[in-house]
Amino acid sequence: MTNARITVTAALPYANGPLHIGHIAGAYLPADIFVRYQRQQKRDIIFMSGSDEHGAAIMLRAKKEGISPREIIDKYHEQNKETFERFGISFDMYHRTSEPIHHQTSQEFFTTLYEKGEFTEQESEQYYDEEYQQFLADRYITGTCPVCGHPEAYGDQCENCGSSLSPTDLINPKSTLSGKTPVLKPTKHWYLPLDKYQPWLEEWLLKGKQGKWKPNVYGQCSSWLKAGLQPRAMTRDLDWGVDVPLPNTEGKKLYVWLDAPIGYISATKQWAQDNEKDWELYWKQQADEADNARLIHFIGKDNIVFHCIIFPAILHTHGEYILPENVPANEFLNLEGRKLSTSRNWAVWLHEYLDELPDKQDELRYTLCSIMPENKDSEFTWKDYQAKNNNELVAILGNFVNRTLVLTQKYFNGVVPPCHELQSIDEEVLHKLEDIPQKLATAIESFNFREAQNYMMELARTGNKYLADTEPWKAIKEDEKRVATILNISLQITASLSVVCQPFLPFTAQRLQQMLNFQSVNWNEAGKNNLLATEHTLEKPALLFQKVEDEWVEQQVAKLHQDDELTIDDLEPIAKFAPMKEEITYDDFVKLDMRVATILTAEKVKKSKKLLKMTLDTGLDQRTVLSGIAQHYEPEAIIGKQVCVLVNLAPRKMMGIESQGMILMAEDTDGKLLFIQPEGKIDDGSGIS
Ligand code: MF3
Ligand code: ZN
Repeated sequence: MTNARITVTAALPYANGPLHIGHIAGAYLPADIFVRYQRQQKRDIIFMSGSDEHGAAIMLRAKKEGISPREIIDKYHEQNKETFERFGISFDMYHRTSEPIHHQTSQEFFTTLYEKGEFTEQESEQYYDEEYQQFLADRYITGTCPVCGHPEAYGDQCENCGSSLSPTDLINPKSTLSGKTPVLKPTKHWYLPLDKYQPWLEEWLLKGKQGKWKPNVYGQCSSWLKAGLQPRAMTRDLDWGVDVPLPNTEGKKLYVWLDAPIGYISATKQWAQDNEKDWELYWKQQADEADNARLIHFIGKDNIVFHCIIFPAILHTHGEYILPENVPANEFLNLEGRKLSTSRNWAVWLHEYLDELPDKQDELRYTLCSIMPENKDSEFTWKDYQAKNNNELVAILGNFVNRTLVLTQKYFNGVVPPCHELQSIDEEVLHKLEDIPQKLATAIESFNFREAQNYMMELARTGNKYLADTEPWKAIKEDEKRVATILNISLQITASLSVVCQPFLPFTAQRLQQMLNFQSVNWNEAGKNNLLATEHTLEKPALLFQKVEDEWVEQQVAKLHQDDELTIDDLEPIAKFAPMKEEITYDDFVKLDMRVATILTAEKVKKSKKLLKMTLDTGLDQRTVLSGIAQHYEPEAIIGKQVCVLVNLAPRKMMGIESQGMILMAEDTDGKLLFIQPEGKIDDGSGIS
């Protein structure tokens, strides 16, 4: 089993925006730790991801910005690929779903399922936006969730309660394109009969997975199955995506959640082509089942249903493919007391962090791993980042390594001294050294990354304590041999640390190995007491970590709050005037009785800054009207003016005076008010329409 091939995937992020720490803590960091560890075990492992370049989110963004989807995906694909690289996420392939090899691969899947007669073909009434002439599925439509009442559920999913939805389930549906209520129109689609696969899925998903799969994943899957699976359309009426490979299907594309996970396979095909490998060894069932590759999907919790139910059902139905051995999904990361939000700019953007601190990847990796939302939502704060950095990386790991290397320079000229007779304290430490890498490995293999990283730090802590207890800086005066032993052991610990910290802190591992003048070794060598030979010469040491100051932390928090006054609406393209009101009918309009009238008298209303009291001749009668224009007009100046009045407005009392109508005013965004007046003199009482 342990020598088998392993295919690790990390969810393909949509290429419609930059990456933030929530993405990283959710899927990419745990996947990278797992993969780096397995590589150190010298296992045959591949790490696949890439850009998800289809789907409504990209189309909507393109429409909003008035550019093509291609411009968006090209920009963010390059940016995200580079950001991952800079952060040390070590994909073997970061592919794109817009590549021809991906379109072919996903079409082949569709065709195979089609030819097997798996799809049910169904014409049904679907919501349609008449203004945009487009059918509305998934993120193109919002409405109230029928399950939890959340007012902004999408056509495919409610992000509040996690329910999977169809557009026709939504209460008060609205098009996200025009904001209008859509109409129903018939269209034909191909459905994957998930209900038919339910018995198989129950068997595969629930039997023996409890305790093996994470409780959050197992729990979500069982509640899905309990609710009963429904057929799901695998095609959409869209103009961006993978063409449906059937005749007479113009304007139809594959459902993005059909094509995207197949992206893992196309990525593997591309990698295999580039590296002269056989992709099928990583994805297809082998003659001897024991020779099958292991498949592991790293994702965030919003992707569970697609990776645990829909994609496995597709792989299984297609045949020949292996199924995931595990889907270690994480929960969500919050930031400084709020939910991460791209639209509200409440996020720590990874590329911005790296621009500011290009060589502090490991400080962020360490913090994110220590708070990884493995079993429940968790929170990132800059204060905590500072604490993890100062109290753990600097004070424990950095301090131990630095003391060991500096003392070795000082007492032994940077040459590894020999290990002499052992005392019981040495034996205890060596025992721990041997023990920890194994425990750490077990934690990684069972996807407990926080625990695993703690073991790494425990090794550093053990070393730190060992130095504090043995005090080589005092012992040196009487017993140089004893100091040689202490430093030899401390150096062995340091060498092991440089191996076991690699999955978590790859940049630090490299710096440390340079200082040790040491080539990394197979994981199983970690914990041995002879990684550094006596007489081996070390390089000059340098500090691994620096303290984070309070001031800098405050700056980071202030940066987050810079957009606080903005509401989500303000962040949409900024409209100068209030948006158009809801549509009314002609009948609604003719109910308004508006007339030309002359202002006969005008005076200020006592105790009111805003109101003027006027008498109007409306042609019908003389009446009193109040208007909030005292700051714009002097009463004397307006007597005799002709204005427009809504005369059939129900009377309202203000400041004890009844107002019998309303004078029409124009108001600009600065609050300036002007009368609406007829262009020339006209009889009072003339109707306005
Ligand atoms: N783009 C999706 C998201 O961000 C994830 C796609 S994962 C894949 O939620 F399996 F479809 F690739
Ligand atoms: Zn809901």
